[in-house]
Amino acid sequence: MSSVLRPAASASHAASRPESEASLQFSAMRVADVDVVTRIEQEAYPFPWTRGNFLDSLDSGYDAWVAREPVVSGGRIAGYFLLMPVVDEMHLLNITVRPDLQGQGLGSRLMDKVRDRASAAAMTSILLEVRPSNQHALAVYHHFGFVQIGVRKHYYPAAAGSREDAIVMRLPIVATAATAATRNGDGQ
Ligand SMILES: CC(C)(COP(=O)(O)OP(=O)(O)OC[C@H]1O[C@@H](n2cnc3c(N)ncnc32)[C@H](O)[C@@H]1OP(=O)(O)O)[C@@H](O)C(=O)NCCC(=O)NCCS
Repeated sequence: MSSVLRPAASASHAASRPESEASLQFSAMRVADVDVVTRIEQEAYPFPWTRGNFLDSLDSGYDAWVAREPVVSGGRIAGYFLLMPVVDEMHLLNITVRPDLQGQGLGSRLMDKVRDRASAAAMTSILLEVRPSNQHALAVYHHFGFVQIGVRKHYYPAAAGSREDAIVMRLPIVATAATAATRNGDGQ
């Protein structure tokens, strides 16, 4: 994933979550969403995905979702994520909360949905890459239980034509009875 360094959320943010967080509306990302998603991406990252990257991902059938604020709050896209299943591992390619809404708990709601999607697809783990300089995202991923499993050298473009490593992180998915049955081939 591309990434950006931003200040850590305040310790008290969880206690003062906005009402909108509870009522995020999830829907599959459509081509019609891509212009807005690309604008958010450009605001959120120093090295953003391009419009073409999102369109290619939709063309490839990746599991892509947007989360909207409630209609009474304007119904704007508040965040999005894209997943790519590889055998029994779900790769989290991109997870982004609109910059003006970061640090208010929306990232947790997106990650809950990511875990639901991975679990429903009977995956054993979620994998992601993150820049070592993206201290906020690293702290958030550790908070969710992700553990570093490796480093990809010179993975990301960086300032002045240089490259930055990627930290590879993994979160095991705890199987429910239903997903265990699917993994074992006992499901419907
Ligand atoms: C990374 C990102 C998706 C997180 O979303 P967010 O809305 O800012 O995160 P939240 O406010 O929901 O915080 C997520 C969880 O991490 C916890 N957390 C936040 N900052 C933390 C910190 N410094 N240390 C430990 N835990 C922290 C929160 O308490 C919350 O957990 P909780 O719901 O159990 O309270 C968002 O900041 C973002 O889009 N950043 C820019 C793009 C980016 O870097 N994406 C990731 C690329 S790898």
